[in-house]
Formats: sequence, structure tokens, C-alpha cells
Amino acid sequence: MSETAPDSRPHFDLDAAFDEDYLHFYAPYTSEEQNDADATLIGGLLGLAGGETVLDLGCGTGRIAVRLAQRGCKVTGLDRSERFLALARDAAAAHGVDVQWLGGDQRRLHFVEEFDAAISWFTSFGYDDDRTSRDILARIHRALVPGGRLLLESLNVFQVAFDDCQETIRVDDDRMVDRKRFDAVGSFVAHERRVERQGRPPRSFTFSVRLFTVPELRDWLEAVGFTDVQAYGGEGEPFDVESERLIVVARRAR
Ligand SMILES: C[S@@+](CC[C@H](N)C(=O)[O-])C[C@H]1O[C@@H](n2cnc3c(N)ncnc32)[C@H](O)[C@@H]1O
Repeated sequence: MSETAPDSRPHFDLDAAFDEDYLHFYAPYTSEEQNDADATLIGGLLGLAGGETVLDLGCGTGRIAVRLAQRGCKVTGLDRSERFLALARDAAAAHGVDVQWLGGDQRRLHFVEEFDAAISWFTSFGYDDDRTSRDILARIHRALVPGGRLLLESLNVFQVAFDDCQETIRVDDDRMVDRKRFDAVGSFVAHERRVERQGRPPRSFTFSVRLFTVPELRDWLEAVGFTDVQAYGGEGEPFDVESERLIVVARRAR
């Protein structure tokens, strides 16, 4: 009998995955309209009325943080990519809002009872081994005030598990090809990504993302002190096998 151990996960090369190519190929998924819609959904699910302190974990180029700031939230955006944070600073200036941008690693989050809400948006969680991921949830819990809420968005494991094993994103004459393998023992999706852009040498790298059923993620969240775990689909609908994505909202128990 053979078994695939969770440590068969391929290395997640964060620097390779989140660079200028990422911005190029994901631009169609991060249009102004999409960013507005995402921020509206997040604001609605968290009931943000303005004035709340919000931590955006893995904020990237700040597309959500800036819009939550426009709604009157006091936003802190944290990301390990200085390149993305530079773009986030430009976006905040262009939108005329103040956001606190922090270069840092969510694996070393150190805040204590500072935020009314924390968000992890566009599959920015599940890059690490399980022990580290659970520790990140504990750190987020600690960063929230009692009663504070976490909104965590990811992929729908049911969709990914039965998805095509190859996906290509095309932008102009450039291609990004992902060969995907879902590991049912470790519950992660492993990607081999090849980037082909005009006038540049092709490059390849690997990464993987841990995916969850709702009961498993609820268990992880409750283990570190969250309660009232609610699950939604990517549009805020009740979560279902058919949902494109999974959004979970949880509250720090008082
Ligand atoms: C898929 S992108 C999502 C960006 C943003 N949340 C959005 O909605 O566009 C994931 C982001 O997480 C950041 N990231 C990855 N691992 C991180 C870590 N350990 N600590 C902080 N940021 C991290 C990446 O640099 C990248 O900006």
C-alpha cells in the first residue's frame, strides 16, 4: 500500500510566484470593477461601517486595502513583497487614502488585540505546512480584539479536486501554463507553473496550496479560539460543492 505523505508537497517559491509575471497574468482578474466588487463583498460580509481597524494579510498591491480605506476603515496592509507594496503605496496615493503598509511575513505576525477585523483574500493562506498554517491562525486570533472577525478566502476544495489538471492563462501572446495535481491525502493542490512571455526565456517553478473542507477549517479555527464560523461561496452565497471559491468568516471569542 502506498501513501502520499503531506511532506510530498512541492516547495512554494514565493519570490518566483509573486513577481511581475503574476501581476501581468492576473491583471484580468484584478480589474477596477473586480476590486470594487471584492471590497463590497468583504465589507458586507464583515459588516464594515467605517472606523474599524482592519488588517489585510498578504495585501499584495493593495487593491482591497485601498478600497476598505475609502470606506472609512483604518487599514494596515501587510505583505512580504516590497515590489507589491511599492505599487500599493502608489494606489493609495492615487485614491487619496491613507493606509499603513508593512513589509513583513504573516508567519511572524506579532500584533496583540489591535484589529477589529482581519482579511486574507485571493488565496493568500495555506502556502505552508500544517503546523505553520495553524500557527498563522493563532497569530491572527491574537491580533484581533475580543469579538474581532477574520474573513479568509480560498479555493473550493471540491472544485479543485475534480478540476482540469491543466490550465492556461493567456495575455496577448504570453502564456502561463499550470499543470495541477490534487493530493487527496494531504488535501493540497500542487502546481507546476511554466511562464512563457514574448522576448523572454521561459521559466518554471512549483507551488502548492492547502485546501479545506469547511469542518476541517472550522476545527482549526476553533482550536485557536475562534467561534461562529460561517461559510460562503465566492459571491457571498451559501457555500456549496458548486461554489467557485470558499469564504469563511469567524469571530474571536471574547
Ligand atoms: C495571491 S496574492 C493575493 C494578494 C491580495 N490579497 C489580492 O487580493 O490581490 C498573495 C499575496 O500574499 C503575499 N504573501 C505570500 N506569503 C506571504 C507571507 N508569508 N507573509 C506575507 N505576505 C505573503 C504575496 O506576496 C502576495 O502578495
